[in-house]
Amino acid sequence: MIKKRLVQLLSHAKKYVFLQVLFNWLSLWCQIGIIWAVSDTVYKIYHDTLHTNDLYFYGCIVAVSLILRYIFDRISIKMSFAASADVKRILREKIYGKLLKLGASYREQTQTSAVVQLAVEGVDQLETYFGKYLSQLFYSLLAPLTLFVVLSFVNFKSSLVLLLCVPLIPVSIVVVQKIAKRLLSKYWGAYEQLGDSFLENLQGLTTMKIYSADEKAATEMDKESEHFRKITMKVLTMQLNSTSVMDIMAYGGAAVGMIFVLSEFMNGAVNLAGAMMIILLASEFFIPLRLLGSFFHIAMNGMAASDKIFALLDLPEPKNKGETLSDGKTDIALKDVCFSYNEERRILNNINLNVKNGGMVSVVGMSGSGKSTIAGILMGRNKNYKGSITIQGKELSDIAESDLMKNITLVTHECHIFKGTVRYNLLMGKPDASEKEMFAALEKAKLKEFIMENGGLDMVLNEGGTNLSGGQRQRLSLARALLHDSPVYIFDEATGNIDMESEEMIMSVIKELAKTKTVLQISHRLANVVDSEKIYMLDGGKVAESGSHAELMKKNGKYAKLFTYQKNLENYGLGGETA
Ligand SMILES: Nc1ncnc2c1ncn2[C@@H]1O[C@H](COP(=O)(O)OP(=O)(O)O)[C@@H](O)[C@H]1O
Ligand SMILES: [Mg+2]
Repeated sequence: MIKKRLVQLLSHAKKYVFLQVLFNWLSLWCQIGIIWAVSDTVYKIYHDTLHTNDLYFYGCIVAVSLILRYIFDRISIKMSFAASADVKRILREKIYGKLLKLGASYREQTQTSAVVQLAVEGVDQLETYFGKYLSQLFYSLLAPLTLFVVLSFVNFKSSLVLLLCVPLIPVSIVVVQKIAKRLLSKYWGAYEQLGDSFLENLQGLTTMKIYSADEKAATEMDKESEHFRKITMKVLTMQLNSTSVMDIMAYGGAAVGMIFVLSEFMNGAVNLAGAMMIILLASEFFIPLRLLGSFFHIAMNGMAASDKIFALLDLPEPKNKGETLSDGKTDIALKDVCFSYNEERRILNNINLNVKNGGMVSVVGMSGSGKSTIAGILMGRNKNYKGSITIQGKELSDIAESDLMKNITLVTHECHIFKGTVRYNLLMGKPDASEKEMFAALEKAKLKEFIMENGGLDMVLNEGGTNLSGGQRQRLSLARALLHDSPVYIFDEATGNIDMESEEMIMSVIKELAKTKTVLQISHRLANVVDSEKIYMLDGGKVAESGSHAELMKKNGKYAKLFTYQKNLENYGLGGETA
């Protein structure tokens, strides 16, 4: 009923749980005081021995107890809040820290939607566990024992009967736990699945609309939602039923105790005041455990979520020796590199490739030949390559991720533009960049004029930069990349899907950059790589040919064929336009 690992999360919040139990317990004493005063008053009225002074005395006890009880309850609620807030903060920090440690390759091990759900909803579900359930667990042991000790002075036998009935509730909780565990795990599975498809469909909504596939997706999501609804209903039904069972146990137990004390009263073993006190306090034996039972259901949800959270926290972290790179000249060498995403298919097969400082090296090949996979490996996104990849002579897998990010900048055709301003996006490339530097970068990317006309660096950008054209977005990404000023640049189809003018402009920046930096260009369009020092042509995960454009043309192999094919296609396109 207690999860050790969860309790360890409490660390210094343990004191809040302790204080909560303490104040609940003090509140119980106030309750006992009130009942005692009321019972004694009734007893004295019945026997006609009540004096005015007694009335003041009992009145004072009731009033003071009520006030104290109110104060104690308030403090207990505050402590409950403090405990859960603290744990939630700790857990979220842990999840965030874990993601940082998993680094760029986190998607190899988990899904973004699952992480978001766990960090937000999952952690929130633990609120009851830490804020209420834990303290209630201790209190519900303490309360019946306290009452037993006090009431045993009034009538031992009835108090014992009440105490013996109390364990019926925890027994029913344990039985329910067994059933609930399986159900809740299913519930979380369905919840995650639904969240996953929701995110996916939302992101792809425009595409689905184009292909009129939205209705089908909606039907599928309806099905998943219905499945989720059913399983939620099952969980709720289970909770409701078990609440009823607990109610029967609680009130049944109290009734048994009351009947017993009445018979004791008839036999003269206890006086009217004592009998009243036991009858009025009988339910107090059970109420804490009954409350524990209802917290338990909510806490169970949290515990199921915590299993998933711990699974995330336990994911193996990439080990590296934290090697650092120095600024300046950087050569990259791939030697016999093999890679596969899964066991079924090998994507890269004994790749040998060198990129030297100054001068552009290009990787070309048909779509799906493994070009972006090379970029992903170099950025630390895809781990577990075989063979050797060295940067400045140091093995890639030994280099600290932060150093890798500082030294390599990747520009793809889908770089993310963040909601905010142009300034915000540029500062991401270099947090301490001056306005002058930012304008210089925009100038190089031929975007300065446009930005100046539209509000300057404070021009507001939509999420994903949707208020820019594709070419403008790409030029802004380029300006941001230039500000990053790293020794290595990788351009992966950086001119894909954009207008000719932007393409030419970006190509000229890349060529300029290659004079001083280490530049790896990936492109399926061969016209862009003609000027490269060396071109590697990938085919089926292997380097099919390599050399300069002239050498490869002379060879008249795959490269030459593809080049001629593309050239003819483009000429034909141009001819078509003029015709
Ligand atoms: N995350 C992934 N998981 C599994 N297979 C992948 C993944 N990414 C790419 N692939 C596969 O690897 C092959 C090479 O992909 P990629 O490197 O993106 O090709 P490209 O040369 O077009 O950039 C493709 O056949 C693709 O199906
Ligand atoms: Mg690609």
